[in-house]
Amino acid sequence: MKKLLVGIILFLTTFSTACAVTSATTTTSTTDTTTSSETTQTTTQTTTSNTTTTNTTTTSFLTDTAPVNYEGSYCDELVVDYDYIDNLLASLTLEEKVGQMMQAEKNGVSNNDVTNYNLGSILSGGGSAPSTNDAYNWYLMYKGFQDAARNSSSEIPIIYGLDAVHGNNNVYRATMFPHNIGLGAANDPDLMERIGLITAREIRVTGMNYTFAPMIGVVQDISWGRTYESLSESADLVAGLTGAYIDGLQNYCIGASAKHFVADGGTDGGHDQGNAIMTEEEVRAIHLVPYYDAIEAGVYTIMISYSSINGEKMHASEYWIQDVLKDEMGFDGFVISDYEAIHQLPGDYYAQLVSSINAGVDMLMEPWSWKDAITNIIAAVGAGDISMNRIDDAVRRILIIKYKMGLFSEDFYDESTQTYYRLSYSEGFSTDENKAVAREAVRESLVLLKNENNALPLSKDQDVAVIGEGAVNIGIQCGGWTIGWQGDDNRSLTPGTTILAGMREAVSGTNGTVVQDIYEADTVVVVLSENPYAEYYGDNDTLTLTGPTATSTNADVLEQVLYAKSEGKKVVALILAGRPLILGQYEQFFDAIVMAWLPGTEAGHGIADVLYGDYDFTGKLPVTWPKNSTGIGMNINSVNYNPDVVLYPFGTGLSYKEENPWT
Ligand code: GLC
Repeated sequence: MKKLLVGIILFLTTFSTACAVTSATTTTSTTDTTTSSETTQTTTQTTTSNTTTTNTTTTSFLTDTAPVNYEGSYCDELVVDYDYIDNLLASLTLEEKVGQMMQAEKNGVSNNDVTNYNLGSILSGGGSAPSTNDAYNWYLMYKGFQDAARNSSSEIPIIYGLDAVHGNNNVYRATMFPHNIGLGAANDPDLMERIGLITAREIRVTGMNYTFAPMIGVVQDISWGRTYESLSESADLVAGLTGAYIDGLQNYCIGASAKHFVADGGTDGGHDQGNAIMTEEEVRAIHLVPYYDAIEAGVYTIMISYSSINGEKMHASEYWIQDVLKDEMGFDGFVISDYEAIHQLPGDYYAQLVSSINAGVDMLMEPWSWKDAITNIIAAVGAGDISMNRIDDAVRRILIIKYKMGLFSEDFYDESTQTYYRLSYSEGFSTDENKAVAREAVRESLVLLKNENNALPLSKDQDVAVIGEGAVNIGIQCGGWTIGWQGDDNRSLTPGTTILAGMREAVSGTNGTVVQDIYEADTVVVVLSENPYAEYYGDNDTLTLTGPTATSTNADVLEQVLYAKSEGKKVVALILAGRPLILGQYEQFFDAIVMAWLPGTEAGHGIADVLYGDYDFTGKLPVTWPKNSTGIGMNINSVNYNPDVVLYPFGTGLSYKEENPWT
């Protein structure tokens, strides 16, 4: 009776508080209830689901009930008990083993399914949030699945994966960092480790334990819609940042997934999921390089690329997965397929499962077809098309990684509070400390490409105009993989600091002003941008300032540039985009040009810090900047590198001190 009474009190308290929190919350920079129709991934097509996601700011719920705070390198110090693993493996039935090899989408599975099928993993595809998108409700959702796993015959906990690729970007209010291409411009391993650590903290607040990051593809053609997810066109630069980020994540018990193996960034014409036409030597000299660093860092998982090499789909390549990645390079974690990627393989579903698993795929990201997959795999084992040894190898790898994530630790679950290990809300989520690191990352990501007529730094005593949708749009400054899969040019997508707000804060208390009317200032900062996109939605080889992925108001902004120059004003171009854009005839009208990439929620502060000279520019181009469309696809690895079609070479980056150490 006592337990029941306590339960009722708790429920009523929670319920009444929830109502109070939802109706009473107000946020400074964002309306507290944003109804957004999100594009979420369903199979490889997308449907714009009219899911109404109410983004509310949750404050008091995530009180410090977390039983354990795995501080620091808790998971890094876990020593795997292989006898425990082998005994557990031996105790499993074939059905339990195959269940562990499945990763289902949270909308494609019930808690009972997790229990009945011993599912090994759940994922949230991009935009697949709980109906109330706050850290607490992400935890409640995770807890439901984890409780279901505890009730399964194997009692093996699930790992819950999501794309936290620039912070825990699915969760409203999370600290969102610059996308990878900006971090490549910063090229700071220490910063990368801290970003990994903070990202891990903001994932751990939800209890979840697995992210599909880092993306270590080496982009070779910026037509690719995933250019901004890449750190650089330079394999060495990517490799130099890979280990630090993985350390940051995994020391905090968050499993990483280096992706997408291999040569995802080398496809012909930059077509996402396309075909990389190159020799094996070229694959090894460029695209394979960062995976050595990922393995050296002990990455827990590696995700396979949708793409092909010389016509061979990576998901069916026993040579690259089993022979090279596992046997030659010694990768001892587990290999996961990409989102329904095996459906692109030849043959029927049975054949696709057989070929991918026999090639070395251990866990299948089969969001909707997982039940059918289980049936087919069991049949394939019975028919001898998949050996029991292959199944055991796959499941053993999965169990070892679950062990390394702390899922078998005795304090993974606290019976007394019925909670799973997680970071308490107040310590880990969207804290000032986390935002300060994001602000630092923004500063270091900025690249100064031109600075004439003393246009920069701005003075805090002058009047400055700032124009362009990107100056006031959180969605644009964050880019894709933000709250939703494709992102959204929604000004209040999630709390953050816009460029206008950051600049105004920088001059508060001074004689300077920041206005939005170019007639009222002698210096104009014009923000030119791309709209958010992800994956193949961003494939585009018309990369002009008014091209298919450009923000539609760019054209008007450019009109105002011409007028401003005719009036003798100074013009600073500030570009928010996932890749270089063709500046064309407008380049001559810009006195200064700053590339800010996709800087995330703390853009406003970090950009103002540098534009007003409180900090100097240190960023360097991690990709080649083409002069015209002929230059798209040109990079430092190009055999026929032609400087005549390059506007700014790889490594360009000026500073107020006019040094350019990369030359
Ligand atoms: C996507 C992407 C991959 C992502 C996965 C899960 O299609 O290719 O990078 O991690 O699906 O969302």
